[in-house]
Amino acid sequence: MDTEKTFVYLWFSHLLIKMKNTAPIGIFDSGVGGLSVLREIRRQLPAEKLIFLADQGHVPYGPRSLAQVRQFSEEISRYLISQGAKLVVVACNAASAAALHHLRTTFPDTPFVGMEPAVKPAAERTRSGVVGVLATPATFQGKLYASVIERFTRGVTVLQATCPGLVLQIENGDLDGDETRTILEDALRPMLARGIDRVVMGCTHYPFVIPLIEEITGPGVEVIDPAPAVARQVKRVLNTRGLVSTESALGAVHYITSGDPQKLSQLLPRLMGEMCVGRPDVKHLDADFQATP
Ligand code: DGL
Repeated sequence: MDTEKTFVYLWFSHLLIKMKNTAPIGIFDSGVGGLSVLREIRRQLPAEKLIFLADQGHVPYGPRSLAQVRQFSEEISRYLISQGAKLVVVACNAASAAALHHLRTTFPDTPFVGMEPAVKPAAERTRSGVVGVLATPATFQGKLYASVIERFTRGVTVLQATCPGLVLQIENGDLDGDETRTILEDALRPMLARGIDRVVMGCTHYPFVIPLIEEITGPGVEVIDPAPAVARQVKRVLNTRGLVSTESALGAVHYITSGDPQKLSQLLPRLMGEMCVGRPDVKHLDADFQATP
């Protein structure tokens, strides 16, 4: 009888662990920017199931108050956790600046991985001693950015630009048009004049315009995108908690938006390249993020 009980207990624990391991990773952003992080997670952890939520009903987050971005981030995280997310990636610098600490205390049972502007590698690698950071106002206002600057940039000049309007250009699929080019030129020209040799992508939308950025800066400037490091961190956290997927097949990706599902579905193949087969289904979620029963 005791052996039987032990067997049932072991079988049940095994089942629970398997259910937890095969649960999805939740990823969110104000819009399509989070896809620049998603594609790296997909590259490094192809067996993981992913739920991507683009809060396009509220994009852009950058000009909003930190309190409002924190509120959206909390509601989205609650929704993703209600959908079984075993880990949540805050694939948005603005939301990380506004809410990462708050999310970790509000949902203590769920691990969170967030974005931190990659100022440290830029400061370590610069030869000219001048680096640029492109991000939205919310990110520059947050304590996280101030603490990164204080800890890692002694002796280095850090120049900042907010690129007004760039997030919406990217949301509209304009990755190389005249207006997008002008926004980037206005941000980068003054930095180039002061001798930057590294430029940090402090917003997850911006990696989609790296080709244009490189055209403007020329070959002497290294563009630093933190997405690969964030994906490595996701892998580390899953490993530490014993949560890595035990499946061998490619994990499914579910796309959700609080904006227009058609528009996102149309843009996905362009942004995701060969990672996106056909035009994926995108589910719509009301902007109050209530899960339908
Ligand atoms: N992609 C986001 C970030 O990394 C937010 C952009 C926005 O909505 O302003 O900051």
